[in-house]
Amino acid sequence: MTMALPKSFYLTTPIYYVNDAPHIGHAYTTVAGDVLTRWHRQKGENVWFLTGTDEHGEKVMNTAAANNVSPQEWCDRLVESAWKPVWKSLNIANDDFIRTTEERHEVRVGKFLQGLKDAGHIYLAKYEGPYCIGCEEFKLPGDLDDGKCVVHGKPVEMLSEENWFFKLSDFAPALIEHYTKHPEACEPASARNEVLAFLESGVKDLSISRSTFDWGIPVPWDTAQVIYVWFDALLNYATAIGLGDDASSDGGKKFAEFWPADVHLVGKDILRFHAVIWPAMLMAAGLPVPGKIFAHGWLLVGGEKMSKSKLTGIAPSDITDHFGVDAFRYYFLRAIPFGSDGSFSWEDMGARYTSELANDFGNLASRLIAMIEKYCDGAIPAVANDSGLSTMLEQTVKTADAAITALDFQGGINAIMEFCKRVNGYVTEKEPWAIAKDESRTAELNEVLYNTAESIRALAVLLHPIMPATTQTLWESLGAQETLGNIAEQKISDVARWGQLPAGSRVTKGAVLFPRLEEK
Ligand code: ME8
Ligand code: MG
Repeated sequence: MTMALPKSFYLTTPIYYVNDAPHIGHAYTTVAGDVLTRWHRQKGENVWFLTGTDEHGEKVMNTAAANNVSPQEWCDRLVESAWKPVWKSLNIANDDFIRTTEERHEVRVGKFLQGLKDAGHIYLAKYEGPYCIGCEEFKLPGDLDDGKCVVHGKPVEMLSEENWFFKLSDFAPALIEHYTKHPEACEPASARNEVLAFLESGVKDLSISRSTFDWGIPVPWDTAQVIYVWFDALLNYATAIGLGDDASSDGGKKFAEFWPADVHLVGKDILRFHAVIWPAMLMAAGLPVPGKIFAHGWLLVGGEKMSKSKLTGIAPSDITDHFGVDAFRYYFLRAIPFGSDGSFSWEDMGARYTSELANDFGNLASRLIAMIEKYCDGAIPAVANDSGLSTMLEQTVKTADAAITALDFQGGINAIMEFCKRVNGYVTEKEPWAIAKDESRTAELNEVLYNTAESIRALAVLLHPIMPATTQTLWESLGAQETLGNIAEQKISDVARWGQLPAGSRVTKGAVLFPRLEEK
């Protein structure tokens, strides 16, 4: 018998500029990627999750200069003191972290560009026009307001340089056909429509080198120029897994295993780079294009995009110090439909923390553990079944899996939390504390407690990708670590199989999952 290989699932986040430390906008994307990849791991898939940093270009170079250090020193400092520690503190389980100043990246980028040149996709011409350093983008007159970039509200540079150009316009018809045939390749629909309108409005060729500064990867055949930072950056998704390496090498094998990427997760600010330039670069190289570009919405402050350059960024620790890491991971995906903009509010987060996490979920778990300790000497009673709960659980798993794999995190979490509410309702209706007063009803009491425990077992597994630390604590206090193994190895397809918690396994009172806010 041959075993089918598990399906591969490759997801990336943007690689972020290291001009400053991460704020909750960056964390929003990275947490979403972490939740989705953890979910796919629990589906038994062969997952690769990549994040990293974008270190070249004028923006980073200028920031380093303003801080009186070399660009490389600046990048090293920010990556080690800010970016990697923040992802670690948020429990991000990325498989790799790519930096565009790494040799593995630079070498492969040079080779890729040379390949496009040799194939006739690159030519020399004069670039004249506006450039916004904040966006690291060549601008069109319509992108400006009174000579200022409409995104950054700052004056643009006027460039006049001999540059190398990529024949981007050649690929517009193929891209239009691609998104028309494969609407799922760019989501949500609003993003796809924007991309199609842009492609149909006439796409110009793209300058892909700069000659007036040197913080970048040299153009292989013209080392007086450095490669345009976006051209360099987009390639990270492929260089990190071995782009262009010999098929029999480790890199070549990894590339065959994971390319094309299943999902590039991005904010809508960088949609065009990902949905137009990137697939055109791949088409020019004869490589398959990514399965999906998903552009989520913005976290807003005062109605505007939260940003480093406008100093409106809130550090993730400002929120996690108060609410904890898992509540942070939960809140944004639960509160904002993925794809829409949303505002952060302490009040809304506080209200959901208390009602959904502390009351509906945390209290349910602690009441159950307390009752099993009190009425059953701390041992899970005999396996029982409640068809109402088990039927709803089956439906919940189906709904949550369909929603989350479609990047509808809110829909998925809602389905899981509806089940949590039903379990609370079950306990309230059955009143186990009342049954316990009547010794002739012990069997009934045990059934209610088993059904509640088994429901909580399922909730822990389903919520694990979203709240890994809290659900691990709960898993241990249910005694499931000893009897069922690691929570991360519990499969989504198996969650609804009723009766997994074995009779007799010991529960223990663990830490309070979501402490009352005023106690902190
Ligand atoms: O654009 N709301 O890096 P960047 C939601 N280096 N998400 C936000 C956000 C907000 N207010 N602010 C930032 C770059 N983000 C390039 C990417 S990829 C090859 C190169 C998130 O540091 C969101 O994912 O400006 C957005 O697309 C990304 O951070 C931009 O990060
Ligand atoms: Mg930006």
